[in-house]
Amino acid sequence: MTEVPKARKPVRGRFITFEGGEGSGKSTQIQMLAERLNAAKLRTITTREPGGSAGAEIVRHLLLSGMGKMFGPETESLLFAAARDDHVAQVIVPALDQGTWVLCDRFTDSTRVYQGELGKVDPKLIRAMERVTIGDLKPDLTIILDVPVAIGMERAMKRRGAALPDRFEGESGDFHEKLREAYRRIAENDPQRCALVDANADPKTVAERVWKALRDHLFSVAATRETAKA
Ligand code: TYD
Repeated sequence: MTEVPKARKPVRGRFITFEGGEGSGKSTQIQMLAERLNAAKLRTITTREPGGSAGAEIVRHLLLSGMGKMFGPETESLLFAAARDDHVAQVIVPALDQGTWVLCDRFTDSTRVYQGELGKVDPKLIRAMERVTIGDLKPDLTIILDVPVAIGMERAMKRRGAALPDRFEGESGDFHEKLREAYRRIAENDPQRCALVDANADPKTVAERVWKALRDHLFSVAATRETAKA
C-alpha cells in the first residue's frame, strides 16, 4: 500500500497587536510592518478592533457612533467584548492556526485603558470578559506607540478633515493625557509582552523602531526558549 504523506501542520503564526492614543500612527505602522513581513515571505494579515469580522463591524458602527455611550461604561465594555469574541473566533485564531502572522490595530489593552482606567469599569469585569473572549490567546508582542498628546491630536485632526470627531476623539485633552499615562504603565508592567515605541518622528523612522522592537523581542523570546530547552 502506498503510504500517504501526512499533511504537515503549519507553524503557528505570530500575533502582534498595536496600541496607542489618537493620532499615534498605528494604521500607517501596521501597513508598513505588514509589507516588510510579507516581503520576508511571512504571510501576514492586518485587522482592527473594534471590528475585523462581519459581525464585529456591525458592533463597531454602533460603538463609534457614540450610541454605546448611552448604556453606560459597563454595557459599552460588553459591546466591545462581543465584537472581540466574534473577531477572535472568525478571523484571528483561524489565521494563526494556518501559520499566518496577524497584525491587529488595538486589542484587549484598549479595553483595559479606555473602559477600565478611563471609564472606571471594575478590573474584575474586564478580566472576566478577557477570559470569555480571548481565553489563552495572548499577543506575542504588543507595540505601544507613544506620542505627546498635542501632536497626536493634531495628526488626528488633519486625518479627519471636515468630518466630526468620533466617540473617543471628542474627549478632552485631560482624557488623552490619562490615556497616554495608562498605556505607559501597561508597557512598564509587562515588558515581556510590550514594547513602548517613541512615535514622535517621521513614519520611516518609527517603522525602523518598530522593526527593531520586533526583532529584539522575538529574538529574545526565541533565545529564552532555546536556553530553557538546553
Ligand atoms: P478607530 O476609528 O479605529 O480609531 P483609532 O485610529 O484611534 O484606533 O476608533 C476606535 C476607538 O475605539 C478608539 O477611540 C479606541 C476605542 N476602543 C475602546 O474604547 N475600547 C476597545 O476595546 C477598543 C478596541 C477600542
